[in-house]
Amino acid sequence: MEIKDNKNLYIETYGCQMNLSDSEIVGSIMAEEGYKTSDAAENADIIFINTCSIRDNAEKRIRKRLREIKKMKKANPDLKVGILGCMAERLKQQLLDEEEVVDLIVGPDAYRDLPNLIKTVESGRRAINVLLSEDETYSEIEPVRLGSNNISAFISIMRGCENFCTYCVVPFTRGKERSRDPETILNEAQDLVAKGYKEVTLLGQNVNSYTWENNGKSLSFPELIAKVAAVSPELRVRFATSHPKDISDELIKTIAKTPNICNAIHLPIQSGSNTVLKRMNRKYTREWYMDRITTIKKYIPECGLSTDIIAGFCGETEEEHKETLALMEWVGYDYAFMFKYSERPNTIAQKKFVDDVPEDVKSSRLTEIIALQQELALRSNKENIGKTFEVLVEGFSKRSDADLAGRNSQNKMLVFPKRNFKVGDYVLVKVTSCTAATLIGEAV
Ligand code: SAH
Ligand code: SF4
Ligand code: F3S
Repeated sequence: MEIKDNKNLYIETYGCQMNLSDSEIVGSIMAEEGYKTSDAAENADIIFINTCSIRDNAEKRIRKRLREIKKMKKANPDLKVGILGCMAERLKQQLLDEEEVVDLIVGPDAYRDLPNLIKTVESGRRAINVLLSEDETYSEIEPVRLGSNNISAFISIMRGCENFCTYCVVPFTRGKERSRDPETILNEAQDLVAKGYKEVTLLGQNVNSYTWENNGKSLSFPELIAKVAAVSPELRVRFATSHPKDISDELIKTIAKTPNICNAIHLPIQSGSNTVLKRMNRKYTREWYMDRITTIKKYIPECGLSTDIIAGFCGETEEEHKETLALMEWVGYDYAFMFKYSERPNTIAQKKFVDDVPEDVKSSRLTEIIALQQELALRSNKENIGKTFEVLVEGFSKRSDADLAGRNSQNKMLVFPKRNFKVGDYVLVKVTSCTAATLIGEAV
């Protein structure tokens, strides 16, 4: 390929890890068309925004960004702008009608059509493809690794979601659940190991329902993750996200007995109240969730635990909110993503319930949840003082180039003096002090 024919593509990614992974697929498809992904919007011929619709403020941020890009397009009328991902899928043609700066709309299952769509756009017309698929997994496409430290990579193992939690847009923006051919997953892991990568995260909205049928035999998620871990003992394996209704004893036991599957589980609770969980259609109870945590702690005593929590869902009472706080305390989470409920158009909750918790009540409940989580994280970190962990070095500490930063198996961030260690090393670090966010230590 002649370098002078190369055009610059700049991809900006919002939302979850699935979107980051998709941007790497898009980068790969566009490379075939002679587009090089660059890390600056300034000299780009085309800008893609891979969007998220999960909460209203996620979409607002993207609308704001489009106003900035409009100014860039004034200065450079040849600049093309594409909207990818969940917001493209949710709004479809409406987004083209509302945002004159946009040339191209592509939904999450239509990226293989980019070469055609780009030709239309290059000829000066606008283009759109938002078809969802029942079988697209981009299985054989080798992603370009964007913004990578060459140590950790995502491997997408499934797409879509059919759980229809009442608050959630994902089933509408990502379509039906489908699993990717395990052989292509293992090839990707082997390839990453050959390139020197030390950590992979297997991605899906609900990885526990991964299943692959072949010749009357089926492969489950615990079987798949064991195969990925067997690729190399030097490779750390993580996964996200598990749905509490589906996390099996088999998976927990597989993690417990496989040294290079990390001891960290992200298990979104959303609410600690059975009545709220029912309205959310989460399909588990508080008691079921507690039993899962008890089983995890039994088999993996040092397991890192994190969660997602929504404050102020439709009809949430003060008592229901308190049940969430009590459950957080009982579990003792190491980390949590915490949100105010944001009503999304056309979701089941929007049609069936009233978004009746006042904004100031949502805010104060969220503040309480965040304050409690801060305490829990600090408590959990303090318990680690004096312990020694194996840390995979990811880069320099944010505060100082004299210190390195990396995670332990439990997914906690450790910072320690650099000495002669480098990115990609496994280092044994003894914890000497901590904050709520970081463990501070010394190599032993
Ligand atoms: N598949 C994952 C979640 C993906 S979305 C799972 O079920 O665990 C990530 C998180 O965003 C959710 O866990 C939830 O806590 C939050 N979320 C989703 N929809 C939301 C909404 N309408 N308002 C506020 N938070 C929401
Ligand atoms: Fe959304 Fe529920 Fe699916 Fe997660 S499991 S993506 S919260 S519908
Ligand atoms: Fe957002 Fe879509 Fe992910 S809505 S959270 S980018 S699946």
